[in-house]
Amino acid sequence: MQPLVDNHGRRLNYLRLAVTDRCNLRCRYCMPAEGITSGRRDEVLTWEELRRLCRIFVELGIEKIRITGGEPFVRKGLLPFLLELSQLPGCPEIDITTNGTLLADHLDALKRIGVSRLNISLDTLNADTFYTIARRRDFEKILQAINKADTLGFKIKINVVVMAGINDHEISDFISLTRDRKWTVRFIEPMPFDGVGGRYKSLLSGDDILTRLMRQFYIVPVSNGKSAVATLFQVPGFQGRIGIIYGYSRRFCGACSRLRLSTRGELLTCLYGSPVLDMGALLRAGKSDGSVKRAISGAVGKRLSDGFEAERAFNKTTFHSMATIGG
Ligand code: GTP
Ligand code: 5AD
Ligand code: SF4
Repeated sequence: MQPLVDNHGRRLNYLRLAVTDRCNLRCRYCMPAEGITSGRRDEVLTWEELRRLCRIFVELGIEKIRITGGEPFVRKGLLPFLLELSQLPGCPEIDITTNGTLLADHLDALKRIGVSRLNISLDTLNADTFYTIARRRDFEKILQAINKADTLGFKIKINVVVMAGINDHEISDFISLTRDRKWTVRFIEPMPFDGVGGRYKSLLSGDDILTRLMRQFYIVPVSNGKSAVATLFQVPGFQGRIGIIYGYSRRFCGACSRLRLSTRGELLTCLYGSPVLDMGALLRAGKSDGSVKRAISGAVGKRLSDGFEAERAFNKTTFHSMATIGG
């Protein structure tokens, strides 16, 4: 089978797998205080089904699988699943995006499995502001987990969703973190995936954030992978890096290498688009590997050109929560 290349010539080699839509935080930009209605348990793909799909995707040329959610560590059985993924022929890189609350106890096991890169959400360096944003009191626990991961040698990216009037005054504190730590701190434009209608839409653009960065520090551009979402910078002499993710402005669609699988097994070829394939239905109808692969290739062959086109085609006024799509 040929590697996956879409109808615009973009090679797809990165799969984002949302293993659960459940979460133990309630971040304002992601969901309302009461949370979101979770998928019915029998709709959620089993670990067995996910393993089969991952094998199929790796056979189609997927080289990196990012585990997301919801919060991946709230689903029982994650660690054995990661071990199985790490043993797939083709040895995909396995990365995790997590809110960090349950991370500390799993770090040793992750290391043994071969997971070395962690993207951790941390929108503030202040415990009270954390409560305002995430509506839970897990700030200290997350900080401890990040520091432990650092000590154990994990490569760490910190994701900061920047919200005007809530945490934007902390930009320089976050940059200061990169003085002595090799972390990459990435400031993210809020996107309209909060499960209620995109209240945070475009409150602060990536360029607004960049202007603030440049006012506070002398920064120089740093090169990044071809299809990476972050535009990277560094303060000369600092160990870590700083990034801006133009997620709402969608500046990186031209090189997008990502596929997404929702908890219910819906395949998305764009974060802003509608599901393009019901993979759970294919598996449960007893389809062969070959026919699942043909269905994936068919969907990839009809990919829309960018997130704006995908959004227009989806024609939704209220977006999902990021927790159902996996970010
Ligand atoms: P790596 O590049 O592998 O480190 O991961 P990542 O930055 O893609 O993953 P992460 O889960 O840390 O996501 C960081 C932010 O980027 C989140 O807000 C995501 O929603 C956003 N993001 C990731 N992929 C895309 C994408 O394809 N389109 C858009 N618009 N945003 C994305
Ligand atoms: N806009 C931008 N980023 C978001 N995330 C969650 N919801 C949103 C949103 N509405 C981020 C989280 C996490 C990553 C997977 O997505 O902070 O780091
Ligand atoms: Fe949970 Fe992540 Fe959503 Fe926050 S952004 S509520 S940590 S899924």
